Amino acid sequence: MSLKFTQDVTNARILSVGAYRPPRVVPNSEIIQRIDSTDEWIQQRTGIQTRHFADADESLIDMAEKSALIAIERAGMTAQDIDAVIFATISYPYQAPSAATELLVRLGNVKAAAFDISAACAGFCYGVALANDLVRNKTAKNVLVMGAEKLSDFTDPEDRATAFIFADGAGAVVIGPSQDIGIGPTVWGASAETREAIVLEPSFLEFKKNPGNADIGWPNIIQQGQTVFRWAVYEIAPIALRTLEAAGLTPETLEVFIPHQANDRIIESLVKSMKLPESVVVAHDIRTSGNTSSASIPLAMDALLAEKPELHGKSALLVGFGAGLVYAGQVVELPSRPVQKSN
Ligand SMILES: CC(C)(COP(=O)(O)OP(=O)(O)OC[C@H]1O[C@@H](n2cnc3c(N)ncnc32)[C@H](O)[C@@H]1OP(=O)(O)O)[C@@H](O)C(=O)NCCC(=O)NCCS
Repeated sequence: MSLKFTQDVTNARILSVGAYRPPRVVPNSEIIQRIDSTDEWIQQRTGIQTRHFADADESLIDMAEKSALIAIERAGMTAQDIDAVIFATISYPYQAPSAATELLVRLGNVKAAAFDISAACAGFCYGVALANDLVRNKTAKNVLVMGAEKLSDFTDPEDRATAFIFADGAGAVVIGPSQDIGIGPTVWGASAETREAIVLEPSFLEFKKNPGNADIGWPNIIQQGQTVFRWAVYEIAPIALRTLEAAGLTPETLEVFIPHQANDRIIESLVKSMKLPESVVVAHDIRTSGNTSSASIPLAMDALLAEKPELHGKSALLVGFGAGLVYAGQVVELPSRPVQKSN
């Protein structure tokens, strides 16, 4: 039997980006006492100078809502125009209902399709891939892709391997129909044999089953730093080059590079391995935002566009990678300048 319908496709692009960083700026000096470290060591190994932590009463959804509203307004829309929400996160502490439906309630639009995805620091790029396909196939018209994390809740401040890396924030994009192709093919995959390299342990189940056991603490990110570093440096550069090629670009014709903000040394090493010329503008938001996992790429995109408005509409290579280990990348056309509100 063949189904009887016509498959009408359109192009998609990122229409707008919005970001939210909690107001509390945390310098390295506030982290180092508990891990016997120094500001110099952290800056030299990661590039991080400061990061933002949300207060105890500021939730992941609070941050997501603020960035989503900015993205929606910049697209010249209201929340009612959004018909699907894809929420990438690893720090929403509920299995159900999803963070995406919680966000819908806040936005006052409870009818849109909504779901979460768990792909850690690649989550935002996974979301862009899905949103592109939803819009292209007209399953949805305007998709909000969220990346939001409150990693300060899941980082042990006494762990020398993680306490200085992870941070809080939220970033969102609206992806909608476009005349031209604004999102290139996604190159994605996993290195699942290395899944032990970044884990959240113990599980909530173990935590719940052992309330009195001091050895079973609250779930925190545990990371094998050198394994992750080597994987990112050696595996991601060829994937990023494949992503460029799939979009018909070369290092010479690319305009902007926005990799996951894991670590400045990883970013520098990718730039070198890919032989990106100096003309390519590279995001270094890690220095003042830390590693915010799924939020890092939209946060970095927003910061670059604020700092260099001339980059609106330019081609940008996005590459996310992290726990799984998983990765995803695509070349996108950066959003045009925000729609001005008429009075
Ligand atoms: C985490 C990371 C910065 C640690 O750096 P590293 O060089 O691998 O650190 P090591 O554990 O090998 O330790 C090297 C030295 O630094 C010391 N050290 C480790 N952590 C330290 C800290 N927080 N402060 C000061 N010194 C520290 C060690 O004691 C060791 O000292 P020694 O040489 O005298 O024995 C690095 O592995 C890294 O950047 N990994 C990738 C992490 C990442 O990007 N994660 C996100 C993925 S999405």
